[in-house]
Amino acid sequence: MPGGKNRYFRRPEKPAKSQPVALPRIEREMGVPIPGEILPQDQWVQTALKKLPESGHLPIHDIFGRKAPLVVDLGCGNGRFALGSAWSRKQMDHLAADILPVVIRYATRRGNQRGLSNLRFLVCDASKLVSDLLPPGSTAEIHCYHPQPYDDPRMRGQRLITPTFLAQCVRALEPGGQFFVQTDHAGYWSVIREMVARFFDFNERIGRWNDSPKGRTRREIHSLKKRMPIYRGQGIVSAQMTAEKAADLAKVIEASEI
Ligand SMILES: C[S@@+](CC[C@H](N)C(=O)[O-])C[C@H]1O[C@@H](n2cnc3c(N)ncnc32)[C@H](O)[C@@H]1O
Repeated sequence: MPGGKNRYFRRPEKPAKSQPVALPRIEREMGVPIPGEILPQDQWVQTALKKLPESGHLPIHDIFGRKAPLVVDLGCGNGRFALGSAWSRKQMDHLAADILPVVIRYATRRGNQRGLSNLRFLVCDASKLVSDLLPPGSTAEIHCYHPQPYDDPRMRGQRLITPTFLAQCVRALEPGGQFFVQTDHAGYWSVIREMVARFFDFNERIGRWNDSPKGRTRREIHSLKKRMPIYRGQGIVSAQMTAEKAADLAKVIEASEI
């Protein structure tokens, strides 16, 4: 007889219908705040980029409704880096892509709730984005954090960072554009470091990123907590390197590996 004639039973109070549900304004993951804060709902935006062109490049300036330097995050996972960069660098536009729809759903919700009109998330293969969808010379920065190392030698062919991929990055980047990469996999790093240095003026970074000492990405936070070594680097397209030279170099390297 819950709630009937029992005088000791009190029906739990229902919230008034008009009462807004309070969201925590700061979210955390592994104890580290997700960059930005959840804004009131009337400031939310749409950060999902669902419609991709069947052929041709993405109309970057139409997508963002302005011309601004473009930052691209490949294999963005839950979007932590892109969220932080878009929140702290409102003057830059951001595209963040991952092959897995589920992680893009999480990332998009956070981007929407932070009102990040300078950010779009898309479900897309990273190589396809760089080679087919980004216009040549369109991009100021390409970031690639913890690409899958594919430890199993039979899967190595699936690694993202190949000479052809790096040549496509050179093509997509503007003169002086930058390429950022990091991993916690020593074997993959020795390959990446050597390969990237052939396409970019490349510097290995000693120590953590100043803007995110607890980690720029979910994987970096996880690896720091496990006390794993993290290898980071950043390169700049050198003045002598053109898209054509990079494509030729990729062919030479790949032919020599056969
Ligand atoms: C180890 S996680 C790293 C995620 C994030 N960058 C981080 O550091 O936390 C690798 C991510 O790359 C994505 N990925 C793997 N292959 C991809 C591809 N070909 N194109 C785009 N994303 C890919 C995976 O779905 C996964 O989210």
